[in-house]
Amino acid sequence: MWLAAAAPSLARRLLFLGPPPPPLLLLLLSRSSRRRRCLHSLGLAAMPEKRPFERLPADVSPINYSLCLKPDLLDFTFEGKLEAAAQVRQATNQIVMNCADIDIITASYAPEGDEEIHATGFNYQNEDEKVTLSFPSTLQTGTGTLKIDFVGELNDKMKGFYRSKYTTPSGEVRYAAVTQFEATDARRAFPCWDEPAIKATFDISLVVPKDRVALSNMNVIDRKPYPDDENLVEVKFARTPVMSTYLVAFVVGEYDFVETRSKDGVCVRVYTPVGKAEQGKFALEVAAKTLPFYKDYFNVPYPLPKIDLIAIADFAAGAMENWGLVTYRETALLIDPKNSCSSSRQWVALVVGHELAHQWFGNLVTMEWWTHLWLNEGFASWIEYLCVDHCFPEYDIWTQFVSADYTRAQELDALDNSHPIEVSVGHPSEVDEIFDAISYSKGASVIRMLHDYIGDKDFKKGMNMYLTKFQQKNAATEDLWESLENASGKPIAAVMNTWTKQMGFPLIYVESEQVEDDRVLRLSQRKFCASGPYVGEDCPQWMVPITISTSEDPNHAKLKILMDKPEMNIVLKNVRPDQWVKLNLGTVGFYRTQYSSTMLESLLPGIRDLSLPPVDRLGLQNDLFSLARAGIISTVEVLKVMEAFVNEPNYTVWSDLSCNLGILSTLLSHTDFYEEIQEFVKDIFSPIGERLGWDPKPGEGHLDALLRGLVLGKLGKAGHKATLEEARRRFKDHVEGKQILSADLRSPVYLTVLKHGDSSTLDIMLKLHKQADMQEEKNRIERVLGATPSSELIQKVLTFALSEEVRPQDTVSVIGGVAGGSKHGRKAAWKFIKDNWEEVYNRYQGGFLISRLIKLSVEGFAVDKMAGEVKAFFESHPAPSAERTIQQCCENILLNAAWLKRDAESIHQYLLQRKASPPTV
Ligand code: BES
Ligand code: ZN
Repeated sequence: MWLAAAAPSLARRLLFLGPPPPPLLLLLLSRSSRRRRCLHSLGLAAMPEKRPFERLPADVSPINYSLCLKPDLLDFTFEGKLEAAAQVRQATNQIVMNCADIDIITASYAPEGDEEIHATGFNYQNEDEKVTLSFPSTLQTGTGTLKIDFVGELNDKMKGFYRSKYTTPSGEVRYAAVTQFEATDARRAFPCWDEPAIKATFDISLVVPKDRVALSNMNVIDRKPYPDDENLVEVKFARTPVMSTYLVAFVVGEYDFVETRSKDGVCVRVYTPVGKAEQGKFALEVAAKTLPFYKDYFNVPYPLPKIDLIAIADFAAGAMENWGLVTYRETALLIDPKNSCSSSRQWVALVVGHELAHQWFGNLVTMEWWTHLWLNEGFASWIEYLCVDHCFPEYDIWTQFVSADYTRAQELDALDNSHPIEVSVGHPSEVDEIFDAISYSKGASVIRMLHDYIGDKDFKKGMNMYLTKFQQKNAATEDLWESLENASGKPIAAVMNTWTKQMGFPLIYVESEQVEDDRVLRLSQRKFCASGPYVGEDCPQWMVPITISTSEDPNHAKLKILMDKPEMNIVLKNVRPDQWVKLNLGTVGFYRTQYSSTMLESLLPGIRDLSLPPVDRLGLQNDLFSLARAGIISTVEVLKVMEAFVNEPNYTVWSDLSCNLGILSTLLSHTDFYEEIQEFVKDIFSPIGERLGWDPKPGEGHLDALLRGLVLGKLGKAGHKATLEEARRRFKDHVEGKQILSADLRSPVYLTVLKHGDSSTLDIMLKLHKQADMQEEKNRIERVLGATPSSELIQKVLTFALSEEVRPQDTVSVIGGVAGGSKHGRKAAWKFIKDNWEEVYNRYQGGFLISRLIKLSVEGFAVDKMAGEVKAFFESHPAPSAERTIQQCCENILLNAAWLKRDAESIHQYLLQRKASPPTV
């Protein structure tokens, strides 16, 4: 029930009612000149010149790949034979394909019913990851067979066809051969047309040691002895449907599995390390529930006969949606009833929900080009919540969406160095770069807003139209809009283009006036920037679905309206003067709200007495925090609002508030009154800490466990005396084997004792790490190591991060933990990265992990000159897939510095005054 925008009868009169006057700095400099000043002084404005990127020529394309691979798990090489049925669309004497780090031995093309023509030249264009096969005569139009024999290396970079190390139950180190092809690494396993729109079918076979498990996208159709070697077998898999190369997968290794058949008849297996099949049961249950859920939601059956979910020891991403063979990090799939914590279960459920959604949305219908990657990732990142909400209503997962995705996206998208959701990309390093919070979290957030605007019934109908129309094909963003428009009759493309084609989002300024029995609201929109509201003539505009609720019925929208102009007036009928009015019910609209002081004043009691719904309390607090960071309001005002959360019972609300307090703590670690903000943290968290205690009470559930862990961790880290003592006591019992800590208490206890411990505490933690059998436990320890207090110990942790003890994908969180752990840690981590750049970079050879590492390591700085230093370092040490991230980090450093200069003194005064006369609760 959405109303079109009201006629702006009052609008003219109210034109002066824009956002409040910008802070002094903004008045002195127009937005554009400010941007120029910031970026030019750092030289950030000029993006390095890029060579033009070309997609593959369309003159020859594949119909079917018949591919046989023979990995050698001892000397880490593989041999490959490709026989591709291809179509020559235009006569040519060369074939251009993608190929990287592969040596072609022979290549030939045989037109159907004709003789083979041998390629006489293989011209590798390494930079472009292509090879041109030249033929001595013209290949005429028609179909034929392209045969290529090649060899490659099973690399250790977690991309392409790579090796993954594991230890057998008897302690022997062995290697599995596994794949990760998205986005552009299928070309490292076999020469191919490695673009998402060039779909074909695949007949895959693998020659493997006979005692190993061999898996691929499809079910096995044949397994026979390999003629040349009695220790090997050749495993043949059924032909796949037409699909993109980035979704092909194979795994050769030693695994156990659990299996079931889902209600809709699909054979589901979860493969685990040997001896750990039990740990696959949770994911198996989730997968078996999820498949029928999506089948119903999309009204399209899962198209393959089987689906395997497999835990891979060395794995760069969280998980990968290969069609029929989904690969996961161990921690995103395995759950041990005793040793896994509640947040791990939730994570496994979300990841399974995410990857299985891709089986339809991404695999059956694939984006036409990487520009539309967000369609895949944004959509899956939204529907994973829908699915988890269906499977585990007790997780209250949609509230968690707001703190995990929505606010994260807004944080990034407020930067000048953000990018539109739809972004033109070419070279692989540019593609790697967009697996970021814009594609995922902003993508998911705008889909959530759209779903709310359309309503579930029409949204589902539109999804079905889209999936049916484009199945086995490719689609672009506008194709989805068209289907949803047809299903709903609403102007979807017009609305959504404002969200996907331009970066950023609006700040809606609202003030109100009581006119007899009615409340008149005056709304205006302006781009929200992390440095304050946009100043300038050419301010972008959005079409914003707005909802308005009042204290009379806080959980329902009194009015829904589409704001399609810069200013609007809205009349709310029959609202008493004592009622509050709130925008953005459920924090669904992708915008921030700034209330006039009177409106804000009336909302605050709703935080204290909990009459505002949780997700609205969360959104309000988060908006205020970001307004403070942007210099629009004072940070002291936000501290006062935080104090109103004394009665807060909701985990997610606490989690978001805690995250913001963490950001503030990091900022204030640059001052000499860091201890005072720790006092504030202790004051804020003590009442809820006391209410919760250490041990679960009867009838408690998932969210109580999460809340307890959060609060105890926060109190312990801040040095709350009673928490610290109890943590030490429990830690001692745990280490001595007297009383093992429950999984949910381990992170907070480890963090607390390390932060306030010494070298022997660190040694004990490292010993626990070595002994841990589960990767989840190892990660839990790795993430807190950075909290260790002294410079010497920090060095030990940094060295550990690059040691054999830490899996390469986890190095990032160890170094990131050091950077985020303390003031010393921040400096030490940055120095460590600079000193060990070559080794660190080589660990991943580009890709998104390097961006994450850089972000975690440098964005806590709050001194202008550090932005220059970071920029200068990466000029001489390029990281192509992290270019935008580096610019974002530099921008964040400057923003932190400005924030600190602006607000440090008043925060200090407030904290001192608070200490002198503590507020009465
Ligand atoms: N398609 C991605 C995997 C991927 C990520 C490939 C980055 C290449 C680069 C997969 O569907 C995914 O999004 N995985 C997420 C987990 C998910 C629950 C958000 C990941 O790996 O973080
Ligand atoms: Zn995904």
